[in-house]
Amino acid sequence: MDMEFLNAEDRELVTKLIDAGQQHLFADWDVPGTEDEAKAAFLASLSKIDGSYPGGLVGYVSNARKLLSEAKAGGNPFEGFVPHHPNMVDLTTFDTTYDHYEALGQRQFGKVGVVLVAGGLGERLGYNGIKLDIPVEVVETTPYLAHYAACLKAMEARMEAPCPVPFIIMVSQDTAAKTLTTLEDNDYFGLKKEQIHILKQELVPAISNNDGTLALKKKYELILKPHGHGDIHMLFHTSGLAAKLAREGIEYLLFIQDTNGQVFNAMPAALGVSVEKGYDFNSIAVNRIPSEAVGGLVKLVRDGKELTLNVEYNQLDPLLRATISPEGDVPNERGFSMFPGNINVLVIRMESYVRILEKSQGIIAEFVNPKYADATRATFKKPTRLETMMQDLPKLFGPDEKVGVSIFDRRWSFSANKNNISDAAAKNEAGSPPESAATAESDFYLAGRMRLAAAGATVGEAAKELILGVPLIPGPKVLLRPAFAMTLAEAREKISGGSITGEATLILDGKDIVLEDVELSGRSGLVIKACDGAKVTVKGAFSNGGFELVRLTEEELASDAVPEYLRIRGYRFKNRGAVAYEFDQPGDYVVEAKTVAD
Ligand code: UTP
Repeated sequence: MDMEFLNAEDRELVTKLIDAGQQHLFADWDVPGTEDEAKAAFLASLSKIDGSYPGGLVGYVSNARKLLSEAKAGGNPFEGFVPHHPNMVDLTTFDTTYDHYEALGQRQFGKVGVVLVAGGLGERLGYNGIKLDIPVEVVETTPYLAHYAACLKAMEARMEAPCPVPFIIMVSQDTAAKTLTTLEDNDYFGLKKEQIHILKQELVPAISNNDGTLALKKKYELILKPHGHGDIHMLFHTSGLAAKLAREGIEYLLFIQDTNGQVFNAMPAALGVSVEKGYDFNSIAVNRIPSEAVGGLVKLVRDGKELTLNVEYNQLDPLLRATISPEGDVPNERGFSMFPGNINVLVIRMESYVRILEKSQGIIAEFVNPKYADATRATFKKPTRLETMMQDLPKLFGPDEKVGVSIFDRRWSFSANKNNISDAAAKNEAGSPPESAATAESDFYLAGRMRLAAAGATVGEAAKELILGVPLIPGPKVLLRPAFAMTLAEAREKISGGSITGEATLILDGKDIVLEDVELSGRSGLVIKACDGAKVTVKGAFSNGGFELVRLTEEELASDAVPEYLRIRGYRFKNRGAVAYEFDQPGDYVVEAKTVAD
């Protein structure tokens, strides 16, 4: 190529890359005057990647060579380590310990930032749009992003000196534009624009061989691939945002995923655990069934040094067989694995986070997973790339950083919407969690029922239904919005007695609603919404047509006229006369069921 026509910056970049063994990128270039636009675009893309990766493209190639040579050698990453139970707190039952940690956590709300990683494509779900736009429930149709925003506002309302909770959203090329549009179109869901920080992850170049050769799609165009959700750490560092939030008094970051409507149920208690136990890194986890495709959280000990890590499920069984359990990952007396399951919800202490980011430049334990053409591991079936996962941060921890685990009831803390209906049905058939739109919605109502039951109300569940092979419990559908209650203690304060059974629906949204012996049975529905300052006491037995579950017909399932968020579930709810009260002026109100038929 003719370097004379390049500007000084491009010349420097090209020279650097040639020195790093990437001369093929510039071989066969057309003479000046031919394909100049394509060349300029190519140089611009190289320069963008060079600027976004710490250490630039040369650093990326050098990291790739090192990791590829280790992968080729095929060493055991856990050589010499003996697995132990991690430090953990069991919060699977709602007891006094749970209350203690929730109360402690709630007092920290003013020192927490919430980090949503939302750069994933969602290929398994196959939804035409961003996952954050999908409603978590379709009685009132609340998108995930609206639900998360409501949780942040509810946290703010519970602070002694209310201030907006920083909300950090990581997007990617695949999700950036739609996420911004959704935020703007919905007036930031009631949040302040300034409390939202958008970080955008970039794609990284694919690599075609063990020498770290960058792969070309065609002349003047690299193959680019996602780098994984671990990019959040790099972006926190390169943007300076972690250090800035730390200076502003943020002491903890809660990391959440795009479609887990349950996450804020566990958040207050998990935060309390982080504070009391002094955990720098606290994984919100669940009991794990042996052999299920969920990573296990394991304390690995070697030469007196310990490291608590997520061990991928395919590595866990061999590690156990080679060390403490010749039978592998066998169930304990309760049927669970010896090691809790990672659901990738993390509470990270800011002070240690900023320190680790400084030390690592935010590059968190990259790994490479090439598919080799044969046993010689000399060539790949297709280009690979470096990846990084947010849960691997503790790989950079030293003896001073404390890692722990908080175990929660699974469906209280985690129920994602990751799979399309047919894959979800197949998973259900195989006995695995379907993790679909319908099961996520079903669990969203379950969490409401769990709060009601914890507050002493009688709860009777409807029978499970299978819709297109995916299980759904159609009621009672209980939506206790975050404004109403964020902790069990709050639910207990506001609810006394009463019962809810069958396919009934109860929706409460507002800080000062109180339920006294409210009864809902059959399919009856009751919706109460109260603005700040509206104190509403609700009493009696309500009876009406409520919300009916209606399955979509074959034609509807195939029709573009039916919203896709319904088609990924296979049903909708029809309002058949649920009673609704909305109070938009402060004051004292009583809602009392007058007669059997409202
Ligand atoms: P998922 O496991 O749900 O992956 O990611 P995905 O990429 O979204 O979906 P599939 O695998 O294509 O079906 C867990 C979380 O990590 C985010 C996702 O948005 C989700 O919240 N993520 C994933 C990123 O932010 N960036 C990535 O590069 C990958």
